[in-house]
Amino acid sequence: MPQIALHSSAQEAAQVVARHISDLIRTRSAMGKHLVLGLATGSTPLPLYAELVRLHREEGLSFKKVITFNLDEYEGLDGSQPQSYRYYMNEHLFNRIDIPLPQTHIPDGKSANLEQTCAAYEAAIQQAGGLDLQILGIGSTGHIGFNEPPSARDSRTRRVHLDAKTRQDNAIFFKQPGDVPHGAITMGVATILEAREIALLALGPNKAAIIKRALTEKPHALCPATWLQEHPACTFHLDAASSSLV
Ligand code: GLP
Repeated sequence: MPQIALHSSAQEAAQVVARHISDLIRTRSAMGKHLVLGLATGSTPLPLYAELVRLHREEGLSFKKVITFNLDEYEGLDGSQPQSYRYYMNEHLFNRIDIPLPQTHIPDGKSANLEQTCAAYEAAIQQAGGLDLQILGIGSTGHIGFNEPPSARDSRTRRVHLDAKTRQDNAIFFKQPGDVPHGAITMGVATILEAREIALLALGPNKAAIIKRALTEKPHALCPATWLQEHPACTFHLDAASSSLV
């Protein structure tokens, strides 16, 4: 079962997870190795990225030996479009730290050959040595990455159809609700579960109901976050509001 880390605020959760990432980077660097970090988007990880930027600027934390893989990308968007996850990551993290951009990976939402793009993404993660730590948020449908219900335990990086609820939740980031893409490319459940460690962030009252489901329902495809119960080193970073129903 996931461990629960209870925080007094979103800021405190961000500080704890950022400090953990910083420790991992330094430990790996001391061994002459890269840290392979899986990253998430959405509003929840924003304080975490702000804290990592602060650690870089004020405490000299270097990301030169970090390789990143993002969970997902909208289909049909490229990095020049502000709603794309490539744009989000460059804006909130990559352009503000010293990571070489070629070491950052995000699925290509405009790929003409999706099958090949997805297989190459899986291969690149393997080639980097596998994910050391995967950061996750959680959607109201129980999705992790964009693994909407139903998502099988053995699913891998693939094209998915976005749930109507997810399109509604994410409409705030687009000019009009109809602009939210219908499809996305996401790492699969199996891809995520193969990470050596997982840190899921869920903060505030809107996450309470889905956190209860994720932790109390038996693992099943209709609530993909329940598969995290099968991971041996997964921590849910929660606050009083998001953990109130558990
Ligand atoms: C998007 C992302 C997910 C994220 C979810 C929750 O759909 N693809 O990776 O976890 O949103 O977002 P928020 O943190 O804004 O609630």
